[in-house]
Amino acid sequence: MDSATVRKKHKEHLLGCTANFYEEPVVLTDGKGCHLTDLDGKTYLDFFGGILTVSVGHANPRVNAAVKAQLDRLGHVSTLYPTLPIVELAEKLTSLAPGKLDKCFFTASGTEADETAVMLAQLHTGRQEIIALRHGYSGRSMLGQSLTANSTYRALPTQVAGIKHAMAPYCYRCPLGKEPTSCGVACAKDLEELIRTTTTGKVAGFLAEPIMGVGGFVTPPKEYFQVAVEIVRKYGGVFICDEVQTGFGRTGGKMWGIEHYGVEPDIMTMAKGIANGFPLGATLCTADIDASLKHGSISTFGGNPISATAGVATLGVIQDDGLVENAARMGAVLRAGLEALQRRFPKTIGDVRGMGLMQAIELVADETTKDRTPNTKATLALFEETKKRGLLIGKGGTYGNTIRIAPALNVGSREIEDALGILGESFASMQAGGVL
Ligand SMILES: Cc1ncc(COP(=O)(O)O)c(C=O)c1O
Repeated sequence: MDSATVRKKHKEHLLGCTANFYEEPVVLTDGKGCHLTDLDGKTYLDFFGGILTVSVGHANPRVNAAVKAQLDRLGHVSTLYPTLPIVELAEKLTSLAPGKLDKCFFTASGTEADETAVMLAQLHTGRQEIIALRHGYSGRSMLGQSLTANSTYRALPTQVAGIKHAMAPYCYRCPLGKEPTSCGVACAKDLEELIRTTTTGKVAGFLAEPIMGVGGFVTPPKEYFQVAVEIVRKYGGVFICDEVQTGFGRTGGKMWGIEHYGVEPDIMTMAKGIANGFPLGATLCTADIDASLKHGSISTFGGNPISATAGVATLGVIQDDGLVENAARMGAVLRAGLEALQRRFPKTIGDVRGMGLMQAIELVADETTKDRTPNTKATLALFEETKKRGLLIGKGGTYGNTIRIAPALNVGSREIEDALGILGESFASMQAGGVL
């Protein structure tokens, strides 16, 4: 089958909401490390990793060998039976997690991990109301959509009740019109007003991502979580930290994104990079919180032997190969390169943000005149230009004007330089063509 036929059949048989990147979507067939090949034999540098999921590179030999061996032993039994991979992974995760997150429940996706977290928070506190963040993303289930605060992904007008959305710590577009140097994290302090005015005053919890992934790698200021979580706890709520995008060393130098903020979560969720692309989600909580869920709970596919084995092997690679540190080192190279690009194209690149190997640039009409109108035209053009030159990147943000860059954690400096080179050439070509 050729790539045009694949695209045609995809259009014919998949729901229209299954959006693909690019005017002519790429049909990928092979991957190795940070490199991908399509059905027409064209190769690409992969700087999005299937949405921050291929954490240790495509076809990682250690992960694949472990998975192949497990496939030949045992493929599935459900959570009704204890298995070797599930206990090994649970032991690893709970030992790596911050604080007293000693208990673990496995699912097949990040959405289910967040669903589990909210249920635990509600049962533990005996309350219903949950605070989430504007521009946040929590998944595609009814509750996931309700927690999500980005209209693009809120297809259902009727949402789960009891969810309030707080202002996002989005410094580049401060919801209060303040400057980060002098704001005194007013957005975090507003949580108190939000709780007192829009809830019963007794909240179950606060769910937030350390860096808002789908939101466009919106990176809260250093003090944000200490202030926000203290307020939530004062009103009896627990802190649910969604590490679906930020976990497993992605932010560089730390295993978890929240560790950069000096706050310990009561519940933590993870998925994506946990198993290098095998479907797996996990919710971790304290023993106290675990004791509040007295009903049974089954996840047919949750932590199945194949995904759990991939998880153990992926964590092994991250730890043994020093990838948390590599993400910090390579992240610094990537960040410096993006800042250099911003100096070269100061009109269009309004903001550079992120941590480690989770870096974004936000494209606007004209930063030199402070016209921050989202530049979706330039974003789409950059997508096509980089694809032409063999680089795959991500896109995001509520306004669709943020480029998300997140290669595998074992990316090398050569690959980063190549990607930066392609980005530079692409911007230059857009400038020459009058797109900027
Ligand atoms: C922060 C965050 N939470 C939850 C989810 C939902 O995960 P999944 O798509 O695996 O259901 C995502 C997915 O992008 C996410 O970015």
